Amino acid sequence: MGAVFNRAHFVFTHSTNESRKLTFMQKPKNTNHWWQNGVVYQVYPRSFKDTNHDGIGDLNGVIEKLDYLQALGVQAIWLSPFYPSPMVDFGYDVADYCNVDPIFGNLDDFDHLVSETHQRGLKIIIDWVPNHTSDQHPWFIESRSSRVNPKRDWYIWRDQPNNWGSVFGGPAWTFDRQSGQYYLHQFVSEQPELNWRNPELRAAMYETLRFWLRRGVDGFRMDVIGMILKDEELRDNPPNPDADPNAPANDLFGRLLATYNMDQDDVHKFIREIRGVLDEFDDRCGIGELWGELPRWVRYYGKDGDELHLPFNFRLMWEPWQADAMRRSVDALEAALPSFAWPNYVLGNHDQPRLATRFGGQAQARLAAMMLLTLRGTPTLYYGDEIGMENGLIPPEKIQDPQGKNLGAERTRDVARTPMQWDDDPFAGFSTVEPWLPISVDFQERNVRAQAADPASLLNLYQQLLHLRSETPALHGGSYAAIAVSAENCFVYRRQAQGAECIVALNFSAESRQVCIPGYQCGKIILSTTPGRQETVNFEGFSLRPYEGIILIPSK
Ligand code: NOJ
Repeated sequence: MGAVFNRAHFVFTHSTNESRKLTFMQKPKNTNHWWQNGVVYQVYPRSFKDTNHDGIGDLNGVIEKLDYLQALGVQAIWLSPFYPSPMVDFGYDVADYCNVDPIFGNLDDFDHLVSETHQRGLKIIIDWVPNHTSDQHPWFIESRSSRVNPKRDWYIWRDQPNNWGSVFGGPAWTFDRQSGQYYLHQFVSEQPELNWRNPELRAAMYETLRFWLRRGVDGFRMDVIGMILKDEELRDNPPNPDADPNAPANDLFGRLLATYNMDQDDVHKFIREIRGVLDEFDDRCGIGELWGELPRWVRYYGKDGDELHLPFNFRLMWEPWQADAMRRSVDALEAALPSFAWPNYVLGNHDQPRLATRFGGQAQARLAAMMLLTLRGTPTLYYGDEIGMENGLIPPEKIQDPQGKNLGAERTRDVARTPMQWDDDPFAGFSTVEPWLPISVDFQERNVRAQAADPASLLNLYQQLLHLRSETPALHGGSYAAIAVSAENCFVYRRQAQGAECIVALNFSAESRQVCIPGYQCGKIILSTTPGRQETVNFEGFSLRPYEGIILIPSK
């Protein structure tokens, strides 16, 4: 298997006899689904581990690192696209939904990955890109070949464009000389958009889901699922009154409100159909990428839970580093959820700057890890965040991302896609040759091998949090309630299940804070972001160090 290290290298500082006994006594009969109890880990395959020495990660690289992921304590891996693709948008331009790009391996490698994943008791989720294909997909080649081609209506063709813009800059329509019409693409022009109003197209897309479900995948992360259906008349979008005045001139997408191109009422009937396909198989999970405001977003759970299991919730990722902002976001989400809906949280992914950079540094990254892994709902981790990887420095001539190329270096997503830092060998143990994106300059200090050997490292904190979460029902399945405290810039909440409870106290400020929690006498710290802090504290007033977070078992 070639694992770099095994579980024994980790340090279990929280496992005092007392906390073990408490958590053991709390253990319930497990009635929940795997996608509720566990934690999802996003692998960006290009950047995870290269085993065939071409500078690009591959499926065998993911297999090689499964032991690492199992020891870390995650439940499922989500793979960003590995399909055959011209890679204009690094795999989000799919040329064949039912195969593997030779850069990443082949279908046998994929089957091997599924079986190795399942053997370790882990689940595998793959990306599905239903809104658009590559312009090299055979469907589009046929569709553009003539106006009377049977697949013409599988894409969106018009004589005149509307005012919509592309997320990656410029207009969302490109004129096709050969057939004399414009086609729609809200990303690069090489990503023509599919026409979900066409029943044959829908049937073909559902078959692509079944292809992978039969191969054993446990779920899909569905790319921009809220965009698959457009206003039937393709009306112009209204101007966005909050548009960034400093945005580049070609950011036409940001200048308009997403009124007619996203979250249309009739999309839900197709999400229910997609869910129907998942339900043909046992216990599979549908996760959707969604950007809309809460009222639009919450509808993707369906009227009674018949749409997505987990509409991705990115809200905490967009919040400033302030306790109140985080608390308000969590409380608003909790209030918006119907009783059958299960929450989820994301703090990093391949489209956003690195969490450690965005939130201001490594101390903040430790606190963010504790928040993410102790809120109610399924957390998704992004590869490398567990070692605090920061934004990579990408020289302008090395920018690969179409968003960075079209909208300017400060918008490039390459910064969050640099190779995983496994060790301090040349190329960070990611590859033996120059990788497709530069390795971050800090790889000699910040890497998995170094952090696995350091009990105080962020990696060890993640591992402790993940294991504590999985063995503590109050944390992985319990209720959530914010606790009002007077300490400035602190976010405190209670998690409770079957009479057992945990209190999480997070100090977002750069100064120490005195916290008083009414209604209890004292509490035992079972885990702190400060390595080794394990005392019993008095709830009438205890101190949190700068950016410190603690998890407590209280007593009345
Ligand atoms: C969202 C994906 O996360 C992003 O990486 C991609 O560029 C767009 N969708 C287009 O597929």
